[in-house]
Amino acid sequence: MKLPNIQIIDEKDKRLRLISKDVDFPLTKEDQQMIDDMIIYLKMSQIDEEREKYDLRAGMGLSAVQLGVLKRIFVIVEELDDGSFKDYIVINPSIKSFSEEQIFVGEGEGCLSINRETNGIVPRYARMTVEAFDRNGMPYVIRVREDISIAFQHEIDHLNGILFIDRIDPKNPFKNSHKMREI
Ligand code: NI
Repeated sequence: MKLPNIQIIDEKDKRLRLISKDVDFPLTKEDQQMIDDMIIYLKMSQIDEEREKYDLRAGMGLSAVQLGVLKRIFVIVEELDDGSFKDYIVINPSIKSFSEEQIFVGEGEGCLSINRETNGIVPRYARMTVEAFDRNGMPYVIRVREDISIAFQHEIDHLNGILFIDRIDPKNPFKNSHKMREI
C-alpha cells in the first residue's frame, strides 16, 4: 500500500475550531480523492506492519476538517473480527435519535489531531440513529452502537469545531463515570 499524501492538522490549528459546511452533490474530484485517501490512511494506521513502517498513530476516524477542508464529511474504518475492514463514509450527518444510556472509552478517547497524553472520560450515547449521505449523494439511515457510536459522535463533534478534550471536565476528569458504562 502507498501512504496517501495527507497532512493532518493538530489542535493548535484554529481551523479545528470552525464549523464545517454542508456539502453539495455531486462531490468534486478532490473530495472523492480526499475520501479515498482518508480511508487508506486509517486502514494503514490499523495494520501493524504499515503503522510501524510509516510511523503512524492508529486511528479509526478522520474528518475533512482535520485535513483543513471545512466540509461536513468524515470517514470511519472499523477492523472486523476476521481482519477485514469496514468503511463508513458519512456526509452531512444528522443525529435522529440517541439512547439514554451513556458509555465511555475506559482507556480514554484519542484523536489524530491531539498529539499528547490526555486523561479523563468523555460521555457518549451508547446507541444512535444517524441520517447521512453517501459519496454519491444518496441518503441513508444508519444505527450505530458501542465503539462505532462513539466514533460517530467524536467525528460529528469535529464538524462542529469540538474536540473530545472539550468534553472532559479539567477539575474532575472522571466525573460521573459511575453513572455510565465503560467499554
Ligand atoms: Ni478526532
